[in-house]
Amino acid sequence: MSTPVIKANNLTKIYKLFAEEIYAVNNIDLEIRCGEFVSLMGPSGSGKTTLLDLMGCLDSVSCGRLEVLGNEVSCARENDLVKYRRGIISFIFQEFLLIPSLTALENVELSLHFSRMTKERKHSLEIMERVGLGHRINHLPKQLSGGERQRVAIARALAVSPQLLLADEPTGNLDTKSAQEIFSIFKKLNEEDGLTIIVATHNPKLGLQASRTIFLQDGKIISKEKSSLFLEMI
Ligand SMILES: Nc1ncnc2c1ncn2[C@@H]1O[C@H](COP(=O)(O)OP(=O)(O)OP(=O)(O)O)[C@@H](O)[C@H]1O
Ligand SMILES: [Mg+2]
Repeated sequence: MSTPVIKANNLTKIYKLFAEEIYAVNNIDLEIRCGEFVSLMGPSGSGKTTLLDLMGCLDSVSCGRLEVLGNEVSCARENDLVKYRRGIISFIFQEFLLIPSLTALENVELSLHFSRMTKERKHSLEIMERVGLGHRINHLPKQLSGGERQRVAIARALAVSPQLLLADEPTGNLDTKSAQEIFSIFKKLNEEDGLTIIVATHNPKLGLQASRTIFLQDGKIISKEKSSLFLEMI
């Protein structure tokens, strides 16, 4: 059996907003193993982003236990979480978050700088080739299509050779064809490199291409039977 990348027991995240307490992630037990490609699905507000943020060490845990890549992170404060994610966990978001004044290749190389890594240019060029953008390295983001911009964001995420890739609605701003291309890249990275990928999506056609889908509702993982009801509704 491969080692767990994520191990959560009674994992809970409570947001306090004025007098209200919101249980965004509510008492979740979950294990994700090395080399899995997992999708998170569920209605808006069900806790997908919150769970991704906890697993990516972007946000602190309120109660329960969470191990990420063998590190117990449940007790870490927000400021201390960076050491568990920098250069180890990479993120892709719905908004591509590229620097407009830098070329595609420079955007990719910038992530190495932020992670305090030095790698030869060849490394970034190879990754650009892998995501099908070898011919677009000197383009600025505004000269690229949405799908190409998201592929630059994937290349940027891969530049640090992460152990875990998390993506939050990565195809939310894309047309059907570009969205499928992004998922095909995820599939390839998972199958060929064994990269562990967790992706939140509203799109069942894409989400069900992962090797496992976890359905959330009101901050909880819902059962297999309930998930099929959910799928019938969408
Ligand atoms: N920073 C915050 N402060 C207060 N409440 C929050 C905060 N972030 C999220 N929430 C609440 O937590 C719950 C879960 O939100 P979350 O963003 O994780 O859902 P989601 O499944 O990602 O939704 P969507 O599909 O719309 O992206 C929601 O009720 C949301 O309003
Ligand atoms: Mg979300």
